[in-house]
Amino acid sequence: MVKHMLSLLDYSEKDIKHILDLSLKLKKGEINEDLKDKTLAMLFQKSSTRTRVSFEAGMTRLKGHSIFLDMSTTQLGRGETIGDTVGCLERYCDAIMARVNKHSDLETMIENAKVPIINGLSEKFHPCQTMADMLTVIEKKGKLEDLKVVFIGDCGFNMFNSTMIGFSKMWSNVVAVCPDKDGYRPEQELVDLARKHGKGTITIEHDPVKGIKDADVIHTDTWVSMGQEGADKRIKELQPYQLNSELLKHAKEDAIVMHCLPAHRGHEITNQVIDGSQSVVFDQAENRLHAQNGILLHLIKNL
Ligand code: CP
Ligand code: NVA
Repeated sequence: MVKHMLSLLDYSEKDIKHILDLSLKLKKGEINEDLKDKTLAMLFQKSSTRTRVSFEAGMTRLKGHSIFLDMSTTQLGRGETIGDTVGCLERYCDAIMARVNKHSDLETMIENAKVPIINGLSEKFHPCQTMADMLTVIEKKGKLEDLKVVFIGDCGFNMFNSTMIGFSKMWSNVVAVCPDKDGYRPEQELVDLARKHGKGTITIEHDPVKGIKDADVIHTDTWVSMGQEGADKRIKELQPYQLNSELLKHAKEDAIVMHCLPAHRGHEITNQVIDGSQSVVFDQAENRLHAQNGILLHLIKNL
């Protein structure tokens, strides 16, 4: 059966651990597996720096090949359906990674493809980022279990969703710290689902100081994601949730600061914090490549 990666909901604790172990071994050069003669198609409907380059460079390292496709300049931009597009791509390529506006488009791709489909970000999930984030936490903290993982800011979008699902499956205790308002609060249905699948606790806190208290890991993301409207209002309403030095004092002294990037310095995070000694954002960015190479080998070669 073909495996895909649309979200981490379909992955067990054992699967996640297996892929993270594989990724870490690849990073350390302890295994010698490749994707020679394999091709990855990369479809993009939204901007990207890290996802595009880490997948492309990752495929080069694995001796495979990748093809970048801006969706608007393919025939999709002139009305060809997603189904027909993917039905052809799968005849040439061994896997398809896509960054889409609507998560449902990834589900349509699965229905039309017999090769793995990988979510390179949708409005609902960003699983490759969370795999890289978990790899980074393992490197920095030696474990994922029993850590207090705080996500502060916009807890109603892709990054929080994937952080909540992935980390809670691996026994971390996840805390959403956000305004008590629609558009920032986690989606209740997803929280229920994550709690059902997860091993760690998931709690929601609206007071930033209480929320961040004794945190081991603090994660944040842009206040205005791609596709979100009302930037001025969001920036104003999220201001009390800015990750700054004053707030960071309430976390554990050895807490690490994470951001999937791109950062909007001076909004969700200050220069002092993102450039400070607790920040691990560039290790996180590097780990996109290693985590994704683990995912690619797992999905394409069933490793
Ligand atoms: N973190 C991340 O996915 O970055 P890009 O949008 O640059 O790909
Ligand atoms: N939440 C952000 C993540 C960017 C990597 C967005 O969707 O724009």
